[in-house]
Amino acid sequence: MAETVTITDNRTGRTIEVPIENGAIRATALAELRGDAEDHDGLMSYDPAFINTASCVSRITFIDGDRGILRYRGYPIEQLAEQSTFLEVAYLLVHGELPAPAQLAGWTHEITIHTMVHENVKRFMDGFHHDAHPMGILLSTVGALATFYPDATRIHDEEQRRISIYRLIAKMPTLAAYAYRHSKGLPYVQPDNELSYPANFLSMMFRMVEPRYLAVPEIVRALDVLFILHADHEQNCSTNAMRAVGSSQPDPYSATAAAIAALYGPLHGGANEAVLRMLDRIGSVDAVPDFITGVKAGKERLMGFGHRVYKNYDPRAKVIKAMADKVFEVTGVNPLLRIALELERIALEDEYFVSRKLYPNVDFYSGLIYQALGLPTDMFPVLFAIPRTAGWLAQWEEGLLDKEQRIARPRQLYLGSGERQYMRPHEHAGDARPADGKPARAQVLA
Ligand code: ACO
Repeated sequence: MAETVTITDNRTGRTIEVPIENGAIRATALAELRGDAEDHDGLMSYDPAFINTASCVSRITFIDGDRGILRYRGYPIEQLAEQSTFLEVAYLLVHGELPAPAQLAGWTHEITIHTMVHENVKRFMDGFHHDAHPMGILLSTVGALATFYPDATRIHDEEQRRISIYRLIAKMPTLAAYAYRHSKGLPYVQPDNELSYPANFLSMMFRMVEPRYLAVPEIVRALDVLFILHADHEQNCSTNAMRAVGSSQPDPYSATAAAIAALYGPLHGGANEAVLRMLDRIGSVDAVPDFITGVKAGKERLMGFGHRVYKNYDPRAKVIKAMADKVFEVTGVNPLLRIALELERIALEDEYFVSRKLYPNVDFYSGLIYQALGLPTDMFPVLFAIPRTAGWLAQWEEGLLDKEQRIARPRQLYLGSGERQYMRPHEHAGDARPADGKPARAQVLA
């Protein structure tokens, strides 16, 4: 059987045979098909939102959305969540292999010694308004970090890339915690290098006057598992931003700031925050049926449900749901859990959700756990950004070293007007907008 596809251009009768490699054809092969002599670009493929277009080759994360499978470097997410730690998983993502004990010790040491931030970074953060969203603070401060490490622009130097990777993974919890402390008007807490990665983060978040803050081990472990589950997810919106920005070859701090900006949106990393706000708004189990009716009528979305890739239960949501009981044993049950369970029960039986293959995604339950751990709602996307930084960096470096990659520059189908001659304002009727710039009523109705 030939591993090719034959395409006939019915405009010209021309046929081309295009090789299939790894289940894909190269879109550039279509350019050979030209409508006429004037058609210089040839045939393009049109795929808004990359529904069926691979933008890269990757060896990092595998997802089978129909079967609900997620693996990092071949290892099932369930095994990693059960047995590994976030720092070990971060090593796996970046290096491709699980670390031997000495490698893990070296990696942990490098990350731990880079957790502090320059005093000027703190002053920079002080400039934000007291009610600034912590995700906005995080994305600006990560971008600003680039100016503290000018050598980070030497991205073709492996040693420089390593240091940037250590620094970014190390400083994200510090910056995240400082964004929170700033919003509360609390002093910044120095990292405690004796603590594990998640325990140190909790200490920087919550330490007050006590000489040392030691979080409950179950809570530390729950946070570590949440970090593992969020560490990578192949070519999602923020990873695509990381790769696209990285393709123009700026320093990785700038690319990471772009990825954080992409993660900020409510359809991506902002969803866990949106889920909590939705549950708060629903308010009680009795109100769930009315809410579902509104969703089905298209008034709003059931946040935390649906996924571009998973058309089955998100495997991360399964792990989180199972973990919730253990966390609630320590923290007490989150009262919003009953509303979430009822939403899930109704949605999984309802034809609207079943026919569209809408299942709970990772964010449906993660917010409930974060809230039970005492983490405020507007910190949820920040909590997502901390571990995802490991995945972003692994993907950024993979893209950078991929000889086939070039600056990311999608094509467009231009449907605007043809060439027009410029006229001064008094020479034409304008665009039918009144002077206030709002569209004329006739246009709105049209
Ligand atoms: N609630 C209600 N209806 C939904 C939902 C939802 N959460 N998600 C999708 N649908 C419906 C759409 O209205 C559409 O219906 P239609 O065919 O009648 O028009 C159909 O399901 C397909 O939806 P799309 O928007 O085309 O799916 P897409 O793959 O583009 O979007 C997304 C995926 C953005 C995740 C979407 O499901 C969504 O908005 N979910 C809620 C937000 C959310 O939880 N995001 C977190 C994603 S996970 C992550 O980033 C970690």
